[in-house]
Amino acid sequence: MLFIIQALSLAALAAKVLANPLPQQIHHFKRTCSTGPDTSSSFLANPAYSAAANNAATPSGYINTFTNLHASNNADGYQGYTILSAYDVASCANSCTARPSCQAFNVFFERTPPSSNSYNSTCSTATIKCVFWSGGVTAANAVNTGSTQNGFEIVIAGSNGYIKSAIAASPGYGPSTYLGNNAISAPNDCNGKNTYMGFRILNDAPFNATRCAEACSAQSAYNIAHPGSDGVKPLTCQFFNTYETFKNGVNQGQWCVLYSQSWGKGVATNTGYTYGKDVYTIGSSYAYANATDAGVCVKA
Ligand SMILES: *[C@@H]1O[C@H](CO)[C@@H](O)[C@H](O)[C@H]1NC(C)=O
Ligand SMILES: *[C@@H]1O[C@H](CO)[C@@H](O)[C@H](O)[C@H]1NC(C)=O
Ligand SMILES: *[C@@H]1O[C@H](CO)[C@@H](O)[C@H](O)[C@H]1NC(C)=O
Repeated sequence: MLFIIQALSLAALAAKVLANPLPQQIHHFKRTCSTGPDTSSSFLANPAYSAAANNAATPSGYINTFTNLHASNNADGYQGYTILSAYDVASCANSCTARPSCQAFNVFFERTPPSSNSYNSTCSTATIKCVFWSGGVTAANAVNTGSTQNGFEIVIAGSNGYIKSAIAASPGYGPSTYLGNNAISAPNDCNGKNTYMGFRILNDAPFNATRCAEACSAQSAYNIAHPGSDGVKPLTCQFFNTYETFKNGVNQGQWCVLYSQSWGKGVATNTGYTYGKDVYTIGSSYAYANATDAGVCVKA
């Protein structure tokens, strides 16, 4: 009985000791802001952030699309994010590789307010975010420079972008336009002519937009080498849409559809079809235009 009472009073004592730890903790651990004044501009100028971004190695299977920007991406197909304990591009890439819907990622330092529930965080901190996207991340869509919340300026530093080389723009094409689960369903052009030039099914290797780019250029070369006897200028492939097809959810391979003219998201209305009991759908759809000649229709 005595033992129990002793144990209870020990517990009561422990509770008392824990009851008021705050002033002591602040006294011991109060941080000074080691990297200069705690402002958004000193955060942006922090050389540690730019060094981490500039020195990051590009993971294999990825292409570095921009380095050390003060903005994060607003790309297509948001796929969530994780918080990293270090600026670790390789671990961010591994997470992207593990997610079939991730084709690109953005890693950066985000200025975060001093935490209200931490004893000693009197300075802002950096949250290192790894954000996943289905569409390409480029300098052009790195437009999110932050915001002000409750008077605290959230800013972004050391922002790097990476895309899987499988969807990277091939030499002479791109950048890619992400079309999600939709394929191009092209109307006739401004002269009432069909711009569709046929398709290929590539199901002997993982998804790779470059192979479709090669098919597009090869078709142009073939058509130029084999003109019709009617004297009409041969059609050349200036645009392609490549995507994965699924039969009842099972991947059937990569399609590659060629066009003589570029088309935009507005006509990406083909989501697949049902044939008997089978449902055919589309995923990872990307469009690419010839970089020097997008094949814009000129009214005859
Ligand atoms: C508080 O300070 C201690 C000692 O410097 C440190 O170990 C701890 O990570 C800090 N906690 C927070 C939330 O910053
Ligand atoms: C882009 O189009 C131009 C003009 O038709 C053509 O000369 C060029 O070869 C095309 N580029 C590629 C990569 O096919
Ligand atoms: C994609 O295809 C191109 C052209 O065929 C090839 O050179 C490249 O190695 C392929 N990329 C991957 C990741 O397989």
